[in-house]
Amino acid sequence: MSTIQRTAVITGATSDRGIGIGVARRYAQEGWAVVVLDLDGEKSAKVAAEIGNEFAVPAFGYEIDVTAEDSVAAAHAAVTAEVAAGNLPVVGALANIAGITSPVPFLETTLDIWNKVMAVNATGTYLVTKAFLPGMLEAGWGRIVNMSSVSAQRGGGVFGKVPYSSAKAAILGFTKALARELGTSGVTVNAVTPGAVDTNIRVGATPESEAALARDIPVGRTATTDEVAAVITFLSSADAAYLTGATFDINGGSHMH
Ligand SMILES: NC(=O)c1ccc[n+]([C@@H]2O[C@H](COP(=O)([O-])OP(=O)(O)OC[C@H]3O[C@@H](n4cnc5c(N)ncnc54)[C@H](O)[C@@H]3O)[C@@H](O)[C@H]2O)c1
Repeated sequence: MSTIQRTAVITGATSDRGIGIGVARRYAQEGWAVVVLDLDGEKSAKVAAEIGNEFAVPAFGYEIDVTAEDSVAAAHAAVTAEVAAGNLPVVGALANIAGITSPVPFLETTLDIWNKVMAVNATGTYLVTKAFLPGMLEAGWGRIVNMSSVSAQRGGGVFGKVPYSSAKAAILGFTKALARELGTSGVTVNAVTPGAVDTNIRVGATPESEAALARDIPVGRTATTDEVAAVITFLSSADAAYLTGATFDINGGSHMH
């Protein structure tokens, strides 16, 4: 196992078949210490402990509601305390994975749905990045990877509708503008745009709808969570220093541009 030098913080990382847990596992497998942040603090701690045991890396898990500034501050303080106590190495990577979608057609979209989808995806990415960025700037090294979606690029067409595409597109603008602003700081900011990934987020998907989806994907299937995780951990590596402000498609060829 490689030497553990840095901690990766992953939001939205406790959903059983989710991308976040796959990302946390992959960071650990590659020798990073990990911090698992999700709505349920107990589950976050449990998932972190399992990952820490399996890959023999330091791992902590805490509650976070990425839409609430005080909750983000509390999670950040908990991580900072473990770093200060020497239980975690300095935070080197942040993967903003927490997200929700909505399949509701536009005219049936309530303001509540719009606000929730924007809050978790876009505001959450803003708040968590703002909390963890100062430490990375202080260290002169950092990797931020934001979870967008092919829905931002092609106007939905997978599952999420207008609020989801809008929120995921906001993440692309956020990523580019922050990457530009951080310039020579040593901190890179990138976004990933997966197509359909085999997780529980697409509630209501049927075997028929999944088969129809696969027919539109040149590779002929949805992505595995590990295929998404592999790109995120590469973007977090030392080798990825010259990649910033970029969008990385992980869609089996379903959207080429
Ligand atoms: N599955 C796909 O096809 C697909 C494709 C492209 C992008 N994505 C994106 O990938 C990310 C993960 O998706 P998934 O398929 O693993 O979904 P998921 O529903 O399995 O996981 C989402 C996670 O985010 C957490 N979360 C929700 N609201 C939160 C909040 N306010 N604060 C903190 N955590 C919160 C949930 O508890 C859950 O663990 C999402 O941002 C999603 O939009 C998914």
